[in-house]
Amino acid sequence: MTKSKICFNLIAMSESLNVREILEWYLTAGVDETCGDVPFALQTTIDEPKTAPVQATVSAVQNKTQSLEASPRAATTELAQATITACQNARELCSKAETIAALKELVEGFEGCALKLTANKTVFGYGDEHAKLLLIGEAPGADEDRSGIPFVGRSGQLLEKMLGAVGIKRDECFITNILPWRPPGNRTPTEGEVAVCLPFLKRQIELVNPDIIMILGGSAANALLDNAEPISKLRGKWLEYKTSDGKKIPVLASFHPAYLLRNSGQKAKAWVDMLRMKQKLCNI
Ligand code: URA
Repeated sequence: MTKSKICFNLIAMSESLNVREILEWYLTAGVDETCGDVPFALQTTIDEPKTAPVQATVSAVQNKTQSLEASPRAATTELAQATITACQNARELCSKAETIAALKELVEGFEGCALKLTANKTVFGYGDEHAKLLLIGEAPGADEDRSGIPFVGRSGQLLEKMLGAVGIKRDECFITNILPWRPPGNRTPTEGEVAVCLPFLKRQIELVNPDIIMILGGSAANALLDNAEPISKLRGKWLEYKTSDGKKIPVLASFHPAYLLRNSGQKAKAWVDMLRMKQKLCNI
């Protein structure tokens, strides 16, 4: 969460809550770090003008919350409609992007996903735009949110080592995520958030046009392949992704590096997946 957002909320809350209650509120909302240890002037920060689209999104969320209290069923329908509209907008934007750079700019300007409000940076795909191998993770974490680059934290370091072990350098690949914005506190993204962001991922796939896609983790696999199979069933076998123009791209799903960091006993299977991916890459 940016300084201006925190200050904006702090001032509003400080009139009714004590410091402990305010901090608890932030923890519950998923804020798990501060962005600096140097004090700064509250007044200067809240005077920063909000951009019109962000202000519009904030107002929309506030209106939705009020209508949810007044009439839960109507508000739920309204939220579903807002998600459908945001998906349509995302798809329309994507159809205008003819290059990765153009798409990145459009995603950075997109205001249809509320995750952008709590994220510091848009984390768009990164790497070789003509890569033979495209890797897909779930969502940026704290390190990625700070840097704006996917897989730069501990998971990214493990991923880099795993790729290196089969002779692939990170900058020879294109690495991206299902979501370009960090969900607060790394919470699981909602179905609506995934649906709104999926067109951006699909367009990245079309523009990079890789020979192989490797998906890291069950959530990313379920989102792209549109199924609900556990990663233990999906991993290790060749699957297929069909682009909107009918091209079939071989897909291999494997465990997410963050899962491997917590479950080192599964690294042997991930190693088999890496070898399988490398073998295919060499034979294409
Ligand atoms: N985990 C992901 O899925 N993506 C990142 O970019 C970082 C961690």
